[in-house]
This record gives sequence, C-alpha cells and structure tokens, in this order.
Amino acid sequence: MKKLVIKGGRKLNGTVVISGSKNAALPILAASILLNGETTLTNVPNLLDVITMLRVLRTLGIRAEYYDGGKVKIWNQNSIKHVAPYELVTKMRASFFVIGPILARTGLAKIPLPGGCAIGSRPVNIHIKGLEQLGATVRMEHGFVIVSANKLQGKRVYLDFPSVGATETMLMAATLASGKTIIENVAREPEIVDLANFLNQAGAKISGAGSEVIEIEGVDALHAIEYEVIPDRVEAGTFMLAAAITGGDVEVNKVIPTHVEALIRKLQDAGLKMQIEENRIRISSSGRLTAVDVRTLPYPGFPTDLQPQMAALLAVSRNTSVITETIFENRFMHVPELNRMGADIKIEGSSLIINGVEKLSGAPVRVSDLRAGAALVLAALVAEGETLIEDQDHHLSRGYENLVEKIKALGGDVVVPNPISALFNKA
Ligand code: EPZ
Repeated sequence: MKKLVIKGGRKLNGTVVISGSKNAALPILAASILLNGETTLTNVPNLLDVITMLRVLRTLGIRAEYYDGGKVKIWNQNSIKHVAPYELVTKMRASFFVIGPILARTGLAKIPLPGGCAIGSRPVNIHIKGLEQLGATVRMEHGFVIVSANKLQGKRVYLDFPSVGATETMLMAATLASGKTIIENVAREPEIVDLANFLNQAGAKISGAGSEVIEIEGVDALHAIEYEVIPDRVEAGTFMLAAAITGGDVEVNKVIPTHVEALIRKLQDAGLKMQIEENRIRISSSGRLTAVDVRTLPYPGFPTDLQPQMAALLAVSRNTSVITETIFENRFMHVPELNRMGADIKIEGSSLIINGVEKLSGAPVRVSDLRAGAALVLAALVAEGETLIEDQDHHLSRGYENLVEKIKALGGDVVVPNPISALFNKA
C-alpha cells in the first residue's frame, strides 16, 4: 500500500476488532528457534514485518508457514544455521532478536548489525553487553556481530537501560544457560510478559516478567507448544485516538485495558468519556478535548509508540500541550507533515509545544516511519478536504493489519488509489 487518499470530516462509529500484537509476535517467532518440534502460534497479525521474520526463520533452516486467520506453524529440527541474512536484518531491526536463540541453541551466531532508522540510531550495545556477561565471546567483522559460547553461564546482569529488545534477547539466551540468571532494570512491557509466558509453556523456568527483575533457571531443552499471541496495544491505542479525534463512538474489541492504562488516564484528563470493560473499551464523543502534557516512558509509562498519534489529537484540542519524548532521539518526523495540514507545533529539543487549532486541512503528506504514518492517518480523518498519504516504503502495512478495511468499516472515507489511475493523473 504505497498511497492512501482520505477524505476527512467523518465521525468514526461502530466496532473494531484489534489484531494480534506485532511486538509480541516478532520476539515469539524468534524464540521458536529454541523449541524442538512443531510449534503453532495463533492470533499472529498478517503484517510485512511478520512475513520478514518468517523469511528469516526459513533462511536459518526452519520451516515456517503462515495460514489465513493468523495461524503460523513452525517445524524446528536440530540443524539450525547460525548466520542471519544481511538484507532481512537491515530491512527489519527486530530480525536481530534471533541472536540470543541461535547462540543458545548452536553456540555460534553471526548477525548483521541492524542499521538505524528514521526514529533513531538504535544501537544494540545493551544486547551485546548482556550476552557477554553470560559468557559469550563477541567480535565485530564486516558489519556482522559474531557471538560464540560453548555453554552460556547464568549470571546476575544489569541492563543500562530497560531496553525491550535487549530484555527479550537476554530472556531467550538465558533459558538454555547453565544455572540461574538474574536480570535487573529490565523492560516491563506486556510483550515481555507474553514472551516469558510462551517460553514457560515450552518448559522454561522464568519468574518476574513484568517487574524490574527477572529470574531464569536454565534448562536443557524446550519443547514445541501451541500459543496465542496477545492483542496489539499500540493498534488498540491508535484506534482509541482515531475515535477521539473524529468525535465518534467506537467500541475497541479484543483489547487488554491494563495494557493501555497510561493512554486511558491521559484521555480522561483531556475530557474523553470511555466505558472500560474486561476486553473492550468504548470511546464516545465528548466534543473538543482539552490540552494535556505527555512524557513518554518505559512501560507502564506513556508508550513512545503512541506519541505521534497523541500529537495529532492534541493538535486539534484546546489550548497548549507539551509532549516530551524520552525514548528515541528523533521521533518527531510527523511534526512537519502535521504542520503542513495546519497544525501549530514547535519542536524544542526533545519536546513538542502544541498549540491546539480549530481545524486541519487536507494536504499531500509523506510517511517517514510506522507510527508517524499512523499520526498522519488520524490527522487526515479529521482534516477538512482530502489528504494524499504517500507511503512508498509500506510502513503502515508493516504494523497495521487490514488498516484500510477497519477504517472503512467504521465509516471513514479512505481509498487506496489504483496505481494505474495514478499514471492517468500524471498524464
Ligand atoms: C521495541 O523496539 C519496539 N519494537 C518498538 O516499537 C518500541 O518503540 C520500543 O521497543 C520501545 O518501546 C519491537 O518490539 C519490535 P528499545 P526496541 O531497545 O526493542 C536504546 C514500533 O513502532 N537502545 O527498548 O528496538 C534505543 O536506541 C516499534 O512498533 C540502546 O541504546 O526498543 C532507544 O533509544 C518502533 N542500546 C531505547 O534504547 C540497545 O542495545 C529504547 O529502545 C538497545 C536500545
């Protein structure tokens, strides 16, 4: 999906069912390298990033198939290759998460250093330092990270930052280490808990996931299982914000409210009415919202992955809001595009000063990264007139399953122009 055309002004109404979590499915797919036999995953979203991870598994000698309806089957024998392909790892940073499982299973992993991306340089030093502390030898060669260890040794490890990916790398590597590993200052995101639940069901001995300290008792082997991935809290939050920005009445289904607690609190402070039940949240129009200040933090703080979308909502709320981004160094690529639509947002260091405006107007805009793209979709839904969203790198398709269909089902006016018509337009 390279282009989207959205006509703004329609209130979204109805029900949307949230798909499985991209950021839970990707590490769980990597962790399947640790399991012997035939593993089945369900509620796996049909996303470009998931397809890329399946391709990584196949290049490692593991058979992986995606079936309609979100089921994935993985057949894992013993012969796992230990080199991940350059073009896939540089295409999707999460492919780097295979380093821990390959090292734990084979004693050697050779993984390309993932490049930076639009939102930051995204180093992997915390992953590497953690593996070294478990006894791995690390060297860099021609852009590859080469890690080796006959047998990883359980240790007490401290992460310099509660990195989600580094926590997942350490969790996966330590499951087959000898002895106990204690990891401190870990990430507490729901996706970490989902990965730990997956590994424990396969025979691992992990405790404390979701808290600041995780303990792992190494085991000899892990066995295949069937597992259902949790719902995607970032997709859920994005649709909650879509309902809020259009002043609609939307029921978001298959969401775990505690996973979006920080967003719920902020939207309530902004004056939004919500009905919260066990696995659904109903957002009903409450008129123009008031300004709130937001600071992104590791979970359970306000998620950086909802910062651009929140900026779009605050751009059309009353008064002045301040958003401070503390996780990534360059996650404001949506701001110039929102300002082209009439928003009044100033970037001051790691903060945004957002003066709410009455209305936005449709304009041609470009998607720089996944969540910036989501912010532009939200802005287009409320803007007057038509917005052409250029997404040449398919960012939106990497992170949102059936986005166009879901918006249309809620009454949004969105079309994917036929490439041929674009040629006619040129003519
Ligand atoms: C995960 O990325 C998510 N991706 C990101 O979602 C999310 O934004 C991020 O966590 C933070 O919540 C997946 O789970 C696939 P980090 P990850 O390691 O693991 C620095 C989306 O839109 N850092 O927690 O890469 C890093 O540069 C994506 O779905 C180091 O310095 O994030 C960043 O500033 C975007 N050294 C901060 O930590 C390291 O070794 C947080 O990164 C690792 C990270």
